[in-house]
Parts: sequence; structure tokens; C-alpha cells
Amino acid sequence: MLILGIETSCDETAVSVVEAEGGLKNPKFKILSNIVSSQIKLHRKYGGVVPNLASREHLKNLPPVLETALDEAKTELKKINLIAVTKGPGLILALLVGVNFARALSYATKIPIIGVNHLEGHLLSNFVASEELRIKNAELRIKFPALCLIVSGGHTLLVLMKKLGDYRVVGETRDDAAGEAFDKVARLLGLPYPGGATLAKLAEKGNPKAISFPRPMLEAKNYDFSFSGLKTSVLYHIQERSRLSTKERADIAASFQEAVAEVLTQKTLRAAREFRVKTIMVSGGVSANLRLRKAFMNDKLPALFPYKELTTDNAAMIAAAGYIQYLKRGPARNLFKLDADANLRLTR
Ligand code: KG4
Ligand code: ZN
Repeated sequence: MLILGIETSCDETAVSVVEAEGGLKNPKFKILSNIVSSQIKLHRKYGGVVPNLASREHLKNLPPVLETALDEAKTELKKINLIAVTKGPGLILALLVGVNFARALSYATKIPIIGVNHLEGHLLSNFVASEELRIKNAELRIKFPALCLIVSGGHTLLVLMKKLGDYRVVGETRDDAAGEAFDKVARLLGLPYPGGATLAKLAEKGNPKAISFPRPMLEAKNYDFSFSGLKTSVLYHIQERSRLSTKERADIAASFQEAVAEVLTQKTLRAAREFRVKTIMVSGGVSANLRLRKAFMNDKLPALFPYKELTTDNAAMIAAAGYIQYLKRGPARNLFKLDADANLRLTR
């Protein structure tokens, strides 16, 4: 079936057309188009996402992004079988725009609609492949139970996936998300928002062992995370020095990145052993981080990472989650009851 995914939970206006088949046993997704219009430049001067500006941008961007997504997929609205829209979690002013746009589209066209949890999108991004990589991805054969680490700008979650649609959160961050920590430390180093990728670039020139920053909650017996103390350690380290050389800045970046990568991998691998999982999947913006990818490669249980364009927010993963939920519970019965929910949880 042809699914139109719509995503506006934060600062990316995204629309995607995905062909889905195979059912719950063996779902396969083929991306026909995956358009993301990023608002990063707009929010950069404020050092973070400004919700009412994001909302206005989504409103302006959705119609042309939809048109481009349909054009690129060489299809038209009347061929779409299902509209899947992110209903939460996220910024309420941003979510409302996408949800109402999707509802109006569904009302006017009579295409069934389904509300999707953004986090389920990230969870499923390893199931999605771009066209040329489709065969490779199908060969991956994700085995259950699987453990998924979501590391994004807004979330850090460890999720046990017994099967598709059956999720249990086994750990989460108690304060900052991993991506948020990257962004805040990047800011301390004078890098523009969002600084995760730029910090990772700077870290390439630094020594990861130069400074031994704390590994928060590494020894804790649970699978929760905490990154705000680590960020404060970096702040104190910088404040103790009057001026930083380029080498010192690179060392700070590399040592911070090392601490985050170590905590994320060690705790995930420990959980993987406790829950005897057969596959580990990592997703979300921070899963683009090469150091993190390398840290996971050192274990005998291989971890899967999404293709780079599917690490950060996109609507292809929303279409994939829409397919799974559609198979499990059908479309929304009353489109007027499909509401945005800023605090939507993964498990009910
Ligand atoms: O998944 P995403 O688009 O946003 C949320 O759903 O929250 O992730 C964005 C986050 C930002 O915090 C960004 O700095 C971080 O992902 N990020 C990275 C890298 N690329 C993006 N963090 C570390 N290393 C990277 N290479
Ligand atoms: Zn996200």
C-alpha cells in the first residue's frame, strides 16, 4: 500500500511517500520520496527551536513539501491509501499544524488517516531503506527480541521490542537527551546550533583520552541515563581556563564524545545481555555519530544503524510506523478525535 507520512513534531517539515508490504511478519518499506525542509537556519540565531516560529514555518512549508513529495514519488493524492501523521510527542504548536493539515487532507480526500508516535518512527527507521538499498535492508533480517536505543535531540530511550508494535521502555534519560547534551557542549565551545555534527567533526582532531570526564550512571544497576552532570563538568573545565587553544577545544570535544559513546554503548550492551536480545538497533539524530557507531562495532552482537538520511527527523519513518499501527488497529475511526499530544508515551 502507498502511505503518505507527515512529520512536524519539532523543526523539520517532512513529507514522504512510502510503499509498504509484507504485513507484520515481514514488513518491507520502499521510499518513493523523502522530503525534509529544515528550519535550522531560522532557529540558529536563537540557539534553539522557538515553538511559535516553528509552527508558522510548518504552516507555510507543508503545502509545497507535500507537492514535492508527490511529484518526486511520481504519484498523486488519489493513489495514496493511508495518511500517517505524527501526533506526539513533540512541541504542541508544531504538532498541531501537522495533525490539522493531515486531518483536512483526509477529510477532503476520504483517504484513511492514522496518528503515529514519533518515537515509534525512530524505532522503525532501521526497517526502512532507500530504494537502492532495499535488498540489503531486507537481508538484515532483524530478529526479536530486539533492543533499540533512541538517541535524538529530544529523547534518550532504551526500548525492548518483543515484536513489532510490542514495546517496553527499559531505560531513559533523567535529564538532558544525548543530542541535547551534544548541542549544549557544542554551544560552550562556541559552535552554532545544533552543534552535534559540528562537535563530532571537531572531535576528530582531538584526543578522546585527554580529559577524563565522568561517565554518568555507568555503574548504576538500572538502564537510565543522565547527561546534565557531564555537561556541567565540561562547563567547569572550560571556566577553569582563560583561553582555549584549538587543540584544547578539540580535546574537550573528543573526550566529551567518548564519555557519551561509552555510557550509551556499555549500558545498551549490558541490557542486551540481560534481556537476551538477538538484534540491537540504534536510531535518532545522534546515531549518525561515527564514534558511537564504532563503539558498537566492537561487540560480537552487531548493532544496526539507519541510513544517514533516516537518523534525523523524517516522514519515511512515520509512514513505516503508520503501516505497523494500521495493521494492528486499523485507521482512526473518527478523524475529529485524532489529536496532537505533546507528551504522548510509547507504551500505554
Ligand atoms: O532525531 P533528531 O533530528 O531530533 C529529535 O527528534 O529530537 O536529532 C537531532 C539531534 C541534535 O541534537 C543533533 O545535534 C544531533 O541529533 N546530531 C548529532 C550528530 N548529528 C546530529 N550528534 C552527535 N553526532 C552527530 N554526528
Ligand atoms: Zn525525532
